[in-house]
Amino acid sequence: MTMPAPRVFSGVQPTGNLHLGNYLGAITRFVDMQESHDCIYCVVDLHAITQWQDPRELAHNTREVTAAFLAAGIDAEKHIVFNQSQVAEHAQLAWIFNCVARLGWLNRMTQFKEKAGKDSENVSVGLYAYPNLMAADILVYRATHVPVGDDQKQHLELSRDIAQKFNNDFAQTIREAGYKDGFFPLPEPLIAGPATRVMSFKDGTKKMSKSDPSDLSRINLTDDAEAIARKIRKARTDPDALPSEPDGLKERPEAANLVGIFAALQGESVADTLKTYGGAQFSTFKPVLADLAVERLGPIGAEMNRMMADTAYIDAVLQTGAQRARAIAGPIYEEVKKIVGFIR
Ligand code: TYM
Repeated sequence: MTMPAPRVFSGVQPTGNLHLGNYLGAITRFVDMQESHDCIYCVVDLHAITQWQDPRELAHNTREVTAAFLAAGIDAEKHIVFNQSQVAEHAQLAWIFNCVARLGWLNRMTQFKEKAGKDSENVSVGLYAYPNLMAADILVYRATHVPVGDDQKQHLELSRDIAQKFNNDFAQTIREAGYKDGFFPLPEPLIAGPATRVMSFKDGTKKMSKSDPSDLSRINLTDDAEAIARKIRKARTDPDALPSEPDGLKERPEAANLVGIFAALQGESVADTLKTYGGAQFSTFKPVLADLAVERLGPIGAEMNRMMADTAYIDAVLQTGAQRARAIAGPIYEEVKKIVGFIR
């Protein structure tokens, strides 16, 4: 047996305020991958509770991310959509990975440092071990490709290190089980397009984020047309006109951000956007961007709201997806147990 067929896995945390960054950096790319790959898309509720979540909000947010997946065009019949906690193998494999990953590797994770801040003695153990669970999410399906935004790059590198170390640590039993080139593939991050890192509307050097206290810093997927237009109008910019070449956006983070967002929404390159709008003032460009954003996001927000009125439907999608996910993860985890030496 050689390496598994290509398979896509990715996840989004149900922590509220799903925003334009999540949409352009991840969800639209999930939609695109469906054409060419078998895809598994997961609402990662186990990850969400690494920081305390109100149980009722967690359930609401889990359904809302699911609604966003479906409204954006993910096909839950051809592909698999489910919430992580319904497939126990994620947590089981994560434990094994806790014993494979090295403390020194996790100590380097910048996202942990950012999230823990000065209070690192007081955050959950789960927040620290988070990247091991992420590796398990991907590898429990032996997934090969992972579309994510730029902020997940380091976590993906760690997933590759874990896969590699597992393959080395258990090389003999892996070979005995009939796998010639190792058991886990080294998952490949897919980080591409003009909006891999959408920035805050209030500060072009900070990532657009769910947890920013200012709602004006981001466009939420559930914002209405008026809110979308207002936030773009108020977005921070510099006083200069747009350049005609991408090079002219260096050192202009706010301008680069708005142009990148336009290009991603329009499905074109930044160079193409600048061919059209080079020389334009923000007083011209912002209204055009607002119209495009409303045109693209408006129907998605409306469809999400419509779906959220029928929670039974969403829950049924998640349950069916979980069953299908278990059917893949179960046999892979059984192989892992054999390889590790657990009596079955
Ligand atoms: P999360 O929930 O923070 O974000 C979901 C996806 O959105 C991307 N993203 C962005 N992209 C561009 N600009 C931004 N400002 C921006 N903010 C967020 C993220 O890169 C991500 O792709 N750890 C992951 C979830 C996860 C996962 C996985 C992903 C858990 N297990 C396994 C891939 C594979 C996270 O917290 O994403």
